[in-house]
This record gives sequence, C-alpha cells and structure tokens, in this order.
Amino acid sequence: MKIYVPQDSAAKAVGADAVAGAIQDEAARRGLEITLIRNGSRGMCWLEPLVEIDSGSGRQAFGPVTVADVPALLDGTLAGHGAVEEIPFFARQTRLTFARCGLIDPLDLDDYRAHGGLAGLVRAAAMTGAEIVAEVTASGLRGRGGAGFPTGIKWKTVHDAPGPQKYIVCNADEGDSGTFADRMIMEGDPFSLIEGMAIAGLGVGATKGYVYLRSEYPDAIRMMEAALRIARQAGILGADVMGSGRAFDMEIRMGAGAYVCGEETSLLNSLEGKRGVVRAKPPLPALEGFLGRPTVVNNVISLASVPVIFEKGAAHYAAFGTGRSRGTVTLQIAGNVARGGLFETAFGLSLGEVVNDIAGGTATGRPVKAVQVGGPLGAYMPVSKFDTALGYEDFDAAGGLIGHAGLVVFDDRADMLGMARFAMEFCAVESCGKCTPCRIGAVRGVETIDRIAAGDSAAIPVLTDLCETMKDGSLCALGGFTPFPVMSALTHFPDDFVRHKEAAE
Ligand code: NAI
Ligand code: SF4
Repeated sequence: MKIYVPQDSAAKAVGADAVAGAIQDEAARRGLEITLIRNGSRGMCWLEPLVEIDSGSGRQAFGPVTVADVPALLDGTLAGHGAVEEIPFFARQTRLTFARCGLIDPLDLDDYRAHGGLAGLVRAAAMTGAEIVAEVTASGLRGRGGAGFPTGIKWKTVHDAPGPQKYIVCNADEGDSGTFADRMIMEGDPFSLIEGMAIAGLGVGATKGYVYLRSEYPDAIRMMEAALRIARQAGILGADVMGSGRAFDMEIRMGAGAYVCGEETSLLNSLEGKRGVVRAKPPLPALEGFLGRPTVVNNVISLASVPVIFEKGAAHYAAFGTGRSRGTVTLQIAGNVARGGLFETAFGLSLGEVVNDIAGGTATGRPVKAVQVGGPLGAYMPVSKFDTALGYEDFDAAGGLIGHAGLVVFDDRADMLGMARFAMEFCAVESCGKCTPCRIGAVRGVETIDRIAAGDSAAIPVLTDLCETMKDGSLCALGGFTPFPVMSALTHFPDDFVRHKEAAE
C-alpha cells in the first residue's frame, strides 16, 4: 500500500509531518507494510493535510487528516473524498504546468520522467537556439510574474544580443500577498523549474542560471538544492546538457526579505551583492542585466511552464486560453474563501465563476464585498466586475491587473478605506527610496487617507491627485501601481470613505 502525505509547507503548517510520523508508527505497530511518499500539494489547501492512499485501485483522498484519525485511516473506516482526480475543485482544472505537482515524489527523477518530465528538454537539446525561441514565441507564453510580457520576445532579445556570457535569472521572490504558486511548484515539482531553466539556457545561449529565492521559503530552498544535486548527477545540468554539447548550470541565491527585490532590476542588484534598489530602464536586463550581461529574468511559473510547451508542442499550449492570453493561469485563491488553494485553468474563466463556484464564496458565509487580484498592488474588484474574464487585456480594460494571479477575497465587513490606507502604508515601508513620487508620496498618502478618515472630505481630491502623480511619475511598479488598490477602493466603495466622515462628525 502506498500512502502519500504532502511535504508542502502549507500542509506542514497544519500538521502533515505529525500525521506522516503517526502513520509510520501505527503501520509499524500493526506490522503493516506501507510505502510512505512525501509528495507535493495537490493545491486543495482547505483539505490539508490531504492524505492519499493507493491500495492498487487509484489514489483515494482523505483530509484534513489529524493524528487522531490515523488508526481509522489504516482501518479503512475514515470517511474520505473518493478519488483525488474526481474532487470537483481538482476535476475542473486544466493542469499543464502543475500536472505533476502532488502526483509524484518531488525528488524521484524516474517518477518525473515517467510523467512526461525531461521529454521537453530532450526535444530542445536537438534544436538550435533560434528554434527554441521560436517555439516559445509560438506558444504565446507571457510573463507570469505580473507584467505579461511575451516570453518569446524577451528570449529573442537575449538570443540576438551580442556577448560572450549570458544569464538566466529566475525570480522566485514571490512577495505578493495571497500568492504561493512559485513555492508550491518548487516544493512539489522542482525538476520542472530546472528543466525550464535549462531549456531557456539552450535557447538564448546562456551557460549559467540563478534562482533568486526568498529566505522565507526554507522548504523550497532545501528542495531546490536537493533537486539541483540530482540533476547534475543525471547530466540535466553541466558541461553537456542531455548530450546537446552545450553547457548550462545553475545555483540558488537567497533573498533577504525586501518586497522590492521582486522587481527585476532591484533583484539583479541584490544578486550582485548590492543594495536592492531599482535601476532605471533602459537598459533592459535583456541587454544589460546580471553583471551588465544579457539576461533573461523570468518568474518561476513562466519557466516551469516551458517543459510542457516542449513536451506537447507550442500549438497544444496555445490552444488553451482567450485572446492574447494563451495557455493556463495558475490562480492562487486565498483570503476569506470556503475553498482556497491553487487552481490551474485556461485563461478565460470569469472572476465570478472562480470566486463563487470554484472557491465556494466566503468562509464566513457572508456576501463577498471585494476581491483583490494581483497582490498588494492589484485593484479591488467589486462584485459588479465579476463577469470580467481572466485575461491580461480583459483585466486591463476593467481597471485591474492579473499580476501573479493571486486572489484575496473579502466579505462585506471589509473596511475599504482601511485597505486603501494599508496599500499606501505598505508602499511607504517597502519603497526602495530611489524616486520621490513613491518615497514621499506613499507617506503623504497615509496622512491624506487619515485626514479622510477623520472627516475631511476635501482630502479626497488630494488623494486622487497624489495617485495620479505616483502612477505617472514612479520609476517602478511599486510606486506606480499602489494607486490601483487605493483608487479602486475609493471608486467602487465610496460609502466606506463617506461613512468615516459622518462618524467623525
Ligand atoms: P515591465 O512591463 O516594465 O516589463 C516586463 C518585462 O518585460 C520585464 O522583464 C522587462 O525587462 C521585459 N521587457 C520589456 N520590453 C522588452 C523588450 N523590448 N525586450 C525584452 N524584454 C523586454 O514590467 P515590470 O516592471 O518588470 O513588472 C511589473 C509587473 O510586475 C506588474 O504588472 C506587477 O503586477 C508585477 N509585480 C509582481 C510582483 C510579484 O511578487 N510577482 C511584485 C510586484 C509587481
Ligand atoms: Fe523605488 Fe518606489 Fe521608485 Fe520603485 S517606485 S524605484 S520602489 S522609490
């Protein structure tokens, strides 16, 4: 009998290690032969620790499992959820990037291979750099870190740039509130990121890669380090990647906790050992990036989506999606929801379907008031915008942004003035200080919102002006996008701003 208990840190946070230990002890006490596999998470966070038992007829799901449930689990008397793949939250997904996450043993390379792993790299190893770049372009893949820039165009810029040394830098700083896709894949399927980076290296002619991984993810760091050692031994990395005659190797570098180091130029400074301050663009990192050399800077999910594009072909990937948003989006559903977790789906689903049908509305059972999409710099989407389709252009037209695809749900008790204040305060704390609209503007923003809260309605146009200045005058997205949550709160929930005035009077 095979028993799967996730080693994903979200599962561990709710007791997965203790459950795994109890299963082993109880099995030993009963003289029961089991194989315990510590898999990644299936992404159904509300069911964690989600234990799967395979007695030869498919994997049956149980969860949340406690230590006290273990005897009944092994007796076969614990009520479960049936086959994992048939749980509606899971069954509705289109899993391309996350196909193996939770399914395989994350550090078992044979298991990885048996589920399609390395087929993409084998194919890429027989292609020229230009062919690899063309394949990524044809897939329609766009940057999953937030900006949605076409990955193929970025790779082509680096491919065509002259220079003896080029780099692949993976942005694994994942600082946005409500996001965990990068962490989940690094903990649950680390070889997919390594494979994606190796393909990127072969594509643009880079021989060295770095994963800039936040220090708040110790499990992901351990998993990636272990996977790198295995990949080197297997010839996936090294002087002759999969017999291609081309070299690529990579290493992990740890971030130190600054949100702004998720911005690519600040990240590069940090990677070079400098203070994490934003650099002016141009020059683009694609032309002058790490140590001044042409550098691909891509998010974890962008790079981890590359293997499946090469395994199944660009046309297969591009067949999913809507408009210019091709392939799948890895939604991370969090906040006040009945069913939170990772949901991978083709672009095109509406926001309302995700929040109401898939996530099941709020955990409190109260009406949804707003959903912040795209991290702390994303707009608060009111229920009236729930028909917005998940697509880069659709969200842009609705005054929002998909960002890293994190959704944080709030019920009708949320105080939107308080949320607007939080956005400004966050910006003030995390600002790198390089430009005035952000460094000073965010501090003035907090003060101005406090004036509104104290009943000074004349401060509302001041706040609007300030947001315009920050939007137009900031050097990077931190200062430039903070107006999104602030202005969306003010525009869609004006009563929250007036109520404070009346209360103060
Ligand atoms: P951007 O629009 O300036 O650039 C997007 C990417 O395309 C960059 O990598 C840039 O170097 C590259 N690029 C642009 N033109 C190019 C060209 N001609 N050739 C090659 N490469 C080119 O956006 P930026 O400032 O990098 O990111 C902003 C986004 O980041 C926002 O949408 C926000 O949602 C997101 N964000 C994500 C965070 C996270 O934790 N994942 C945190 C903060 C912001
Ligand atoms: Fe730094 Fe803020 Fe300016 Fe970005 S907007 S460069 S974080 S001061």
